[in-house]
Amino acid sequence: MAGRLSFANITALAPMVRVGTLPMRLLALDYGADVVYCEELIDIKMAQCRRVENEVLQTVDFVAPDDRVMFRTCEKEKQRVVFQMGTADPERALAVARLVEKDVAAIDVNMGCPKEYSTKGGMGAALLSHPDKIEAILTKLVSGVSVPVTCKIRILPSLEDTLTLARRIEKTGVAAIAVHGRFKDERPRHPVHCDYIGAVARAVAVPVIANGGSLDLVKTHGDIRAFKEAAGASSVMLARAAMWNPSVFRSAGPLPLHDVMIQYLKYALRYDNHAFNSKYCLCQMLRDKVESALGKRVQAAQDNRELSEAMDQLDAFEETQAALDARRDALRGPERPPDRVIALDGDVTTMALKFERREYPPQLTPKMFLLEWSRRQKLEQPTYQTVQRAQDRAFQSTVTVEKRKYRSSLWEKSKKFAEQASAVVCLRVLGIPESHVGRRHKRKTEDDRDGAREKRKKPTAGERQTAGS
Ligand code: FNR
Repeated sequence: MAGRLSFANITALAPMVRVGTLPMRLLALDYGADVVYCEELIDIKMAQCRRVENEVLQTVDFVAPDDRVMFRTCEKEKQRVVFQMGTADPERALAVARLVEKDVAAIDVNMGCPKEYSTKGGMGAALLSHPDKIEAILTKLVSGVSVPVTCKIRILPSLEDTLTLARRIEKTGVAAIAVHGRFKDERPRHPVHCDYIGAVARAVAVPVIANGGSLDLVKTHGDIRAFKEAAGASSVMLARAAMWNPSVFRSAGPLPLHDVMIQYLKYALRYDNHAFNSKYCLCQMLRDKVESALGKRVQAAQDNRELSEAMDQLDAFEETQAALDARRDALRGPERPPDRVIALDGDVTTMALKFERREYPPQLTPKMFLLEWSRRQKLEQPTYQTVQRAQDRAFQSTVTVEKRKYRSSLWEKSKKFAEQASAVVCLRVLGIPESHVGRRHKRKTEDDRDGAREKRKKPTAGERQTAGS
């Protein structure tokens, strides 16, 4: 087993909401960051998540009840990723830390964020006014998890108070203290107070990670050392400089931004990062060029395909999708005979069935059989409701026929297939002989060929609904 993560003499990617998701963290590591912090994740939301091993992406996902992936991580960063949480509650902090501790290298508590979403629950910079709570949270975490615990603070208006707080934090057993050298009310444009960071570094024995130098001190890798020396700290943490160009971590010098953006996109595609999140990060890299032709294309993209197209990387998109599809298919394993067990899931009748396209004649599908059967029985047309889950974008559909619901318990790779699978379940549960209906349907289709032209001209409301469902 690898040793505990050390925070001495490191350069880190700072925690950044929306920016510090998996593609950015992996990119920062590739370019030379030693440690990468995830974006701040709020304990209440994380506490509701379940841990899912995503075999297709080869990631570990922490998935919210609404199927949103709150935190995605992978083996490649396991020894280097710090999970930063927003918390004001020791018990909840511990519950969340325990949920993620096997998948991350350390746990950090945000005590420096002055933004309302963080401070309103008493989290972030609001904690700085409650040292007892800071102590309670950190003590609980340090004694309750097996990975190192750190925290990130801002400086207090008086140097003495800052040092007193830092010493108190050190006593809880944290592995490091990150110090953003600004007061709570100072904005990112204000100069960083290296003298405060240096004083904290001298006052405690644990490594101090200097932060706040992106705007005027750190432009390239060479400046990292200068910032570290100016702040007299063991380590450095970069936020904006890395957000603007993650290759700032590269000792051989930064790379052209366009190349970096393409590498970012490749990670985003490989790990199925949400397109809007990728778009946001790419726009941060573009900065004042966000209104350029490329910037406008990136901003207009609505999904990963369009984003790839905007960056002239459609081939990379297709290749990645093909590789992920192949993996998905391989994981499904050899074909199993269909599971005939009928089960009830609430008011929905389910079977574990897949839609196998080749089992049906070219122009015929289970949906068509079901529609035809419903018409002959003078029933309302079947309606389909489909949901997509976040972790692998798979679909599941429920069909309603005569006020009864049917669904396959297996998820499909497209909405179309999911609807077909639900139709198969309905046909099998109701015992409708598919091939028989199919023949009837085929004959009817041939007989009604002339009528079809008429129909196409003026679809009924029901037909319009079917086409779009
Ligand atoms: C931040 N920062 C921040 N800090 C934190 O502890 N948790 C977080 O989630 C965030 N989110 C965040 C998002 C974005 C877009 C920015 C720019 C900043 C603050 C950040 O980690 C850092 O403390 C400051 O940006 C100062 O460091 P730099 O930018 O001068 O290197």
